[in-house]
Amino acid sequence: MNDSVNVFDISLPATVQWVEPTTTIIANELLDECALPPGARVLDVGTGTGPLAEGAAQRGYRVNAIDTAPILTTYVTGRLAPFPGSTAELMDVTAMTYPDDAFDAAFSVFTVMYLRDAVPAALAELRRVVRPGGTVAIVHWAQSSMSPIMRVLFESAEPPLDVPVDYVDAHELAAAVTRAGFLDDASSCPRPTISSPRRTTSSGSSPRSTSSCRRSVR
Ligand SMILES: C[S@@+](CC[C@H](N)C(=O)[O-])C[C@H]1O[C@@H](n2cnc3c(N)ncnc32)[C@H](O)[C@@H]1O
Repeated sequence: MNDSVNVFDISLPATVQWVEPTTTIIANELLDECALPPGARVLDVGTGTGPLAEGAAQRGYRVNAIDTAPILTTYVTGRLAPFPGSTAELMDVTAMTYPDDAFDAAFSVFTVMYLRDAVPAALAELRRVVRPGGTVAIVHWAQSSMSPIMRVLFESAEPPLDVPVDYVDAHELAAAVTRAGFLDDASSCPRPTISSPRRTTSSGSSPRSTSSCRRSVR
């Protein structure tokens, strides 16, 4: 029997209260920088509590938000209810049921980075479902060694939480994105303008987190 629990089953209210204020800032900055046209078809993978999904819907985009945690897709379904054409669904980013070229843009805010061996599969799927010339924007923490507090928090939990504290680091992920066939478009990369957590592009020094926008080149 697996005694671990999904962190969101016990911490949804805490996530909304303590984590979301930060992720909302990041999500909105990313959406502003990507400056998609009105009505754009947007995919949010690993939507969590849905800060990016709701921000995108508020901008008039048509949003599909996916996550593998039912408690979260239920929560985000409620959040997107005021926005016709936007939905949240239970789906794995490595095996999406959307047709090819279904979206103008896809966003991953602190999601793909946690998938370890499945990172290439997730990137291949993102490339498949985003139309040629579309945008894939990824936000991820840099090296885990730069965030020891994460280890302390997660490894001291009782019962153990099934959230991995190890993740693909910024440089590895950037290389995987390139291998997946995306073309880097530096002009669309978000610039760091917030102080906590500090954010920079992948070429910056000593990042706490990093983000990048890539355009598909199929
Ligand atoms: C660290 S949370 C980030 C949530 C949200 N993007 C945010 O910024 O607040 C990562 C999310 O990815 C989801 N997730 C994990 N593996 C996934 C997969 N294979 N496909 C889709 N979502 C996944 C988790 O359930 C979780 O909600």
